[in-house]
Amino acid sequence: MKYKLVLLLCVCGWPLEKTHAAINRTFPVNFKFGAASASYQVEGGWNVDGKSENIWDHICHEKPTYVANQDNGDIACDSYHKYKEDVAMLKDLGVDFYRFSISWSRVIPGGVAGSPVNQLGLDYYRNLVQELVDNGIEPMVTMFHWDLPEALQELGGWPNPELEDHFVYYARTLYKELGDLVKHWMTFNEPKQTCLGGYGDGDKAPGYTSSGVADYQCTHILLKTHAKAYHIYDEEFRAEQQGSVGIVIDTAWFEPASGSDEDKEAAERGLQFTFGWFANPVINGNYPQVMIDRIDERSAGQGFEISRLPKFTDEEIEYIKGTHDFVALNFYTATYAQWLEEADINDLGYYSDLNILQFPDDAWEETVTSWFRVVPWGIRKAVNWISKTYDNPEIFITENGYPDAGGLEDDRRINYHKEYLSNLLEAILDDGVNVTRYTVWSLMDNFEWTSGYNDKLGLYSVDFEDPDRPRTPKASAAYYKQVIATRCLVDVCE
Ligand code: NOJ
Repeated sequence: MKYKLVLLLCVCGWPLEKTHAAINRTFPVNFKFGAASASYQVEGGWNVDGKSENIWDHICHEKPTYVANQDNGDIACDSYHKYKEDVAMLKDLGVDFYRFSISWSRVIPGGVAGSPVNQLGLDYYRNLVQELVDNGIEPMVTMFHWDLPEALQELGGWPNPELEDHFVYYARTLYKELGDLVKHWMTFNEPKQTCLGGYGDGDKAPGYTSSGVADYQCTHILLKTHAKAYHIYDEEFRAEQQGSVGIVIDTAWFEPASGSDEDKEAAERGLQFTFGWFANPVINGNYPQVMIDRIDERSAGQGFEISRLPKFTDEEIEYIKGTHDFVALNFYTATYAQWLEEADINDLGYYSDLNILQFPDDAWEETVTSWFRVVPWGIRKAVNWISKTYDNPEIFITENGYPDAGGLEDDRRINYHKEYLSNLLEAILDDGVNVTRYTVWSLMDNFEWTSGYNDKLGLYSVDFEDPDRPRTPKASAAYYKQVIATRCLVDVCE
């Protein structure tokens, strides 16, 4: 079958849209395919077998209107009881790996360093990991996917420097108990959402709105904590376990709104304030210079004696630098970035520190989620930018997926994955970018944070009205299965 190549050029000379760009070429033999989920979004079992409350349990119970339809994750997909079915689904898809997260409050209900480990909680993950390995599926484990034990939030949450010791105790427990079978660890998922969402914008638990201060404090502690967890692996476990450790960072692609130097600068600043905020420290040791300069200057103008962006000492810079074995990217969409006149000095917050205008192109396909448009070429540009900016690291796509309102005949989702994968293939084969893994978000429909169960992103549908939470494969599951089996996006590859 022949596919038509549609090539438009935008003002800045980048290919704006290529339909089915590398559609009939084959993925390299070492390329791996997977699917993902996260503990609070799928497990349920919120208070069983010794698990304590985490910040999402807490906010859903104490402030039910925080989430659409007053939904919560009390039962979710009930994966706590149905993990064997989940693994059977993964096996049927033929994935190489499953990315899932561990619930800290299930494993260490008290949260603090030195408090008892909950054997039943640990057994659940041991059983899941064993089931995966027995079925030839690699476990890829996220240690923290936003569900902080409530006991630690009561100590102030991530802006409290003590969290470092508590997390390191948790991380060490996981390496010790599961590291014989788990070879890929991710410390944090999307720290921008934990810090900006949780302590700045308030659209993630615990829902605080102290942008420009608490979000930067949170990031600072979290980055130091990541570095410590990485070094602990190096010092105590790597020689024997031979695994790898990274951190998962999300960004949209920021496309300059015009060919002007100002808009190009705005787009680069957008990437640095989003991806670079975390990637630059773990790769090069410190925050991006543009963040340091802008936040220092605006803080001084606002009368702060010290910058709102905390400083790393020289020793800390050396310690944080290089704490990654791979670069993990969650990627969904793109935005235009336009240069703005400097924000009023009295505006205090991350967005005025960043100070760019973001908006979509009307031509980009809309989805059920307001901020989310389908922009397949964005993924190619994003991985190219990462490759150039950070000296060609190995990149894992740890999330990519499409939200809709439900239904088993999900043609738009199939199209989404086909187009994004096709652009990724071009990045690999034509641009020489070192991307080695792709992960569909998500294995099944689940609790989509403040959208509750409204937005569906799964390859499998889950009936949330039925107490058994039956799963049914969508058309996209069959498509992904075929892609994995043939390493090809269409019926026949060259
Ligand atoms: C990012 C998050 O890691 C995941 O939890 C979420 O469900 C997806 N993106 C989709 O919004």
